[in-house]
Amino acid sequence: MSAQAAAAACPEGRAIVVTGAAGFIGSHTCEFLLNRGEHVVGIDEVNDYYDVRVKESNVALLERVGGDRFTFYRGDICDVALLDRVWTGHGKPRRVVHMAARAGVRPSIEDPFVYVHSNVEGTTRLMDVACKYGNDSFVFASSSSVYGGSKETLFSEKDSVDFPVSPYAATKKACELLAYTYHHLYKLNIAALRFFTVFGPRGRPDMAPLKFVDKISRGAPIQQFGDGSSSRDYTYVDDVVQGIVLSLDTPLGYQVYNLGNGSPTKLGDFIALVEEATGRKAEIEILPEQPGDVPRTCADISKARELLGYDPKTPFPEGIRKLVAWYNETHPEVGQTPECVERAAMERRLRESAARKAFAVDEELLLTFRAAQASRPTFGRDRASTIGRSDPSKMRPRMNSSSFDDLTKLGVALTTDDVPSPSEAAKADVAPTLENAAKLDLSVADAFVDAVRHAPTHRGIPYLATICSSRPTALLKPRPKVSDIFAPPPEASPQP
Ligand SMILES: NC(=O)c1ccc[n+]([C@@H]2O[C@H](COP(=O)([O-])OP(=O)(O)OC[C@H]3O[C@@H](n4cnc5c(N)ncnc54)[C@H](O)[C@@H]3O)[C@@H](O)[C@H]2O)c1
Repeated sequence: MSAQAAAAACPEGRAIVVTGAAGFIGSHTCEFLLNRGEHVVGIDEVNDYYDVRVKESNVALLERVGGDRFTFYRGDICDVALLDRVWTGHGKPRRVVHMAARAGVRPSIEDPFVYVHSNVEGTTRLMDVACKYGNDSFVFASSSSVYGGSKETLFSEKDSVDFPVSPYAATKKACELLAYTYHHLYKLNIAALRFFTVFGPRGRPDMAPLKFVDKISRGAPIQQFGDGSSSRDYTYVDDVVQGIVLSLDTPLGYQVYNLGNGSPTKLGDFIALVEEATGRKAEIEILPEQPGDVPRTCADISKARELLGYDPKTPFPEGIRKLVAWYNETHPEVGQTPECVERAAMERRLRESAARKAFAVDEELLLTFRAAQASRPTFGRDRASTIGRSDPSKMRPRMNSSSFDDLTKLGVALTTDDVPSPSEAAKADVAPTLENAAKLDLSVADAFVDAVRHAPTHRGIPYLATICSSRPTALLKPRPKVSDIFAPPPEASPQP
C-alpha cells in the first residue's frame, strides 16, 4: 500500500509517529504498538552507526507485522520538509514516540557534532512540528547517563543532574531542558524517559550484552573495562517498551521518569551469567576504565511505578537467557562453520601478537587502509554524509577532506624507509596526537580483523578508513605481522 493510501485508511490524528523506528528500542516499540492495532509512521535515517542490515531487517519485520498500518520514511528528523510531509500526509498525528538519536557514550567523545545534530536539533525539530500540528502526548528517550558519576545508591529523578561526563549525556540533558521549555511555552505534554542499559533480542551490537553473548558464543576474547566491580541496572527491552507505552498513554504535563529494572548487576556476575547461558567459558582481556563510562547505575523506579503503573517483569538472568535463546536461533552457524573457527583463532592470535608490544610500522593496517581507499567510492556513503552534515568549520582539523591524501603520504613515508620502525620525520609529524592513539588500539584491531576477514568489500573497511583518516597515528600502533596472524599455529613438538 502507498503512503497516501495508508494515510487515507488512518483516521485523523490517530497515527503514532515513532522515530528511530529501525533501531533497537524504536523497532520493539513499533512492534508492540502494531500488535495493539495502532497505525504507526516510522522515521529513521538508517545510519551506519552499526550494521545497517540489522536496521533494514527491523523495518522488514515491522512491515510484515503491521501491513497497511505501518509506513516507513527513511530520512533525517532534522529535515523539516520531511516532517511536514509525514504530519500532513498521515492525518496530523497527535502522539509521538521519539527514540531516534545518536546513542553510545564513547563515540560521542570522538565526534560530538553528530550528537548535537541528531539529539539536540532533532528533538527540537520534532517538538516544534508536534506543537505546530497539535499534540496530545510526546515521549522521548533520555538516558541514565545524565546521572554522570553519581555516588547515590539509587538514582532518582529528583537528583541534580548538572554534571554530564560525556557529550552524549550532555545532549540528553539538553533535550530534557528544551522539553521543559516546550511544555512551559506551548503546554506540550512531554515525558523524558531515562533508560537504564536496555538489552534483549535485536539489541545493539555495540553494547556489552549482545557483544558478550556474540563473542563468548564464538570463542572470541571479550574486553572487560575495569576490575569487574562496576555495575549496571540492565533493563530488558520488553519492560522498557511497557514503560514507553504507559507514559505515551498517560500524558501528565512535563515529566521525567526512570525506566530501569531497579536492581544492578556487577560486570563480573554479568559475564558469569553469559558463560552459564551460552555454556562456554569467556576469554577475558582486562583493560582500564574508559573515559565517559560511569562506575555504577541503579534506577529508583518508584515514580514510574506510582504514576504509570510501570512494573518491570524480567530479572536480569532471565533476560540474558532470552537473549542467548534469540541469538542461537538467529545465528545457527555461530561457532560451527570453519570460518567461525578460523576467525576466532585469528582474533586470538592477533591479541597475542599485539601483547608483544613492539613499536613497528603497522603493515597490516596500511594494507587495510589501501583496501579502504580502493573501496571508497562504493562504501562509506552514510558516514561521509554524517560527517558532511556537521559544520565543517567547527570540526577538528583532523577531519579535513585531505586526510586520505595525508595518510597516503604518511604511508609512503613509512614504507619507503624500509626499516622496521617509522622514520623520525613521520613520528614527529604525528607526535601531537600520539598520546590519543592508545585508546584507539582496540577498535582499530577489531575493525582490522573484520576488514581482513572480508576485504575488500566488508562494511568494516570504511569504518576503519574513518578511524585511519581521523588519526594517522593509528598506523603507528604496535602491531603483529600479517604472517603472525595467518601463520598456522605452531605444530606440537613430536612426541619422543
Ligand atoms: N539502548 C540503551 O541501553 C539506551 C539507554 C539509554 C538511552 N537510550 C536511548 O534510546 C533511544 C533508542 O536507542 P537504541 O538503543 O534503540 O539505539 P539505536 O541506535 O538502535 O536506534 C536509534 C535510531 O535512530 C536513528 N537516528 C539517529 N539519528 C537520526 C536522525 N538524525 N534522523 C533519523 N534517524 C536517526 C538511527 O539510525 C537508529 O536506527 C536513543 O535515543 C538512545 O539514546 C538507549
